[in-house]
Amino acid sequence: MDINLKKLKPDIRHLNDMREVVYDKEWLKTAPNLELYYMYRGLKEKNGLRYNITVVPTRMLGKELVKTKGHVHIGSFGETYTVLEGEAIYLMQKTKDNIVEDIYAVKAQKGESVIIPPLYGHVTINPSNQDLKIGDWSSQNCKSDYSLFEKLNGACYYYTKKGWIKNENYKNVPQIRFEKPMVGELDIKSILETTK
Ligand SMILES: [Fe+2]
Repeated sequence: MDINLKKLKPDIRHLNDMREVVYDKEWLKTAPNLELYYMYRGLKEKNGLRYNITVVPTRMLGKELVKTKGHVHIGSFGETYTVLEGEAIYLMQKTKDNIVEDIYAVKAQKGESVIIPPLYGHVTINPSNQDLKIGDWSSQNCKSDYSLFEKLNGACYYYTKKGWIKNENYKNVPQIRFEKPMVGELDIKSILETTK
């Protein structure tokens, strides 16, 4: 899927849009309102699904690696992501308010894909020193809820220079389980099956 983004105008996520979810509070005290990532939404539409591209330039948020704000879908919607450039870690958590029922991560390289199951909150981390570009398909009816991540200061783990650090605002946080990505771009039928 070759889409030239240069002529398109993205929505920009700034640091001030996501200060609550950043691990390094010392760094935040003096950090300016940086542009963190770029969202090109609704680039294609097919079978009730919408295709978006997100570009996350490499950067540190103080001690933490740059990431998306993180959200949960409203309703029972899945989503698929494919890495178009760079490298990503997808962190997926199933929670009941602040109680963690499941948490796992998938590391994906260019050309690999990840399915976000319905009901799982998710964050995309750029762990590399290259820019990350990802494409995703989700239902046109799928809306994002950021409130849990805002209230609990992010997901139940932060990915930092020193590795994974638990977020103390969650209870019953298990060790992270690592799963493998899928190879290639997913047939979007697979998301139709996980999308209500
Ligand atoms: Fe999502």
